[in-house]
Amino acid sequence: MFSSDPVLTLDHADIYQGKKLILGDVSFRIDKGDFVYLIGRTGSGKTSLLKTLYADLWLQNGKGTVAGFQLDSLKPRDIPMLRRKIGIVFQDFQLFFDRSVEDNLKFVLKATGWNNKADMNNRIADVLMQVGLGTAQKKMPHQLSGGEQQRVVIARAMLNEPLILIADEPTGNLDPSVSDQIMKVFQAINNAGTAVLMATHNYDLLNKYPARVLRCQEGQVIELAG
Ligand SMILES: Nc1ncnc2c1ncn2[C@@H]1O[C@H](COP(=O)(O)OP(=O)(O)O)[C@@H](O)[C@H]1O
Ligand SMILES: [Mg+2]
Repeated sequence: MFSSDPVLTLDHADIYQGKKLILGDVSFRIDKGDFVYLIGRTGSGKTSLLKTLYADLWLQNGKGTVAGFQLDSLKPRDIPMLRRKIGIVFQDFQLFFDRSVEDNLKFVLKATGWNNKADMNNRIADVLMQVGLGTAQKKMPHQLSGGEQQRVVIARAMLNEPLILIADEPTGNLDPSVSDQIMKVFQAINNAGTAVLMATHNYDLLNKYPARVLRCQEGQVIELAG
């Protein structure tokens, strides 16, 4: 893929929940290395938009591409490959609490086709280093703080070297100082070339770490002037 190819495009896309139109005529693009905030009040459609991008909701009208996959003509069998090219981070950490950090990550690697033990261990060490948790491999999730757990979730999202990281209110449950650490992790990932699209309510972060802003408002998505 050429670096000038967009990582993500929506072209006159309509976002639905069932038969209900949530956002109409949505068009924007995200390029490699972009950092984009998605803002808007609760219920304005942020999560619905993100779900459409990782094919949890079907794109019924309009066109869209993510990481080279055509959302409007996606086959169910393409979804696992699409999700491998997208790192997804939610507000609530969904780690398995009955197994170590390493085993949480190994679970995902095995599920996505990895089988060489040394390769898996190397990749796990790399992603934990990337989020500043180089020594947490053998720890159980409950031995980690909320911020550290969220960093493991981010590490997990990075395992298959996604082209874009999609995060839905990743700091929603965290203290301001911890949110700041998480934000620094996203920035480091972004500086290394992965695009980031992050839904957030946290306007302090927008002020502190300025970037492109898309706003969901009255059924539309508008790009705020930078
Ligand atoms: N599973 C669902 N089924 C039907 N409607 C939904 C569902 N999830 C969300 N909605 C509706 O879609 C609209 C947008 O919600 P959402 O995308 O969650 O917004 P946000 O993430 O900005 O809070 C809301 O009106 C909400 O009630
Ligand atoms: Mg939401």
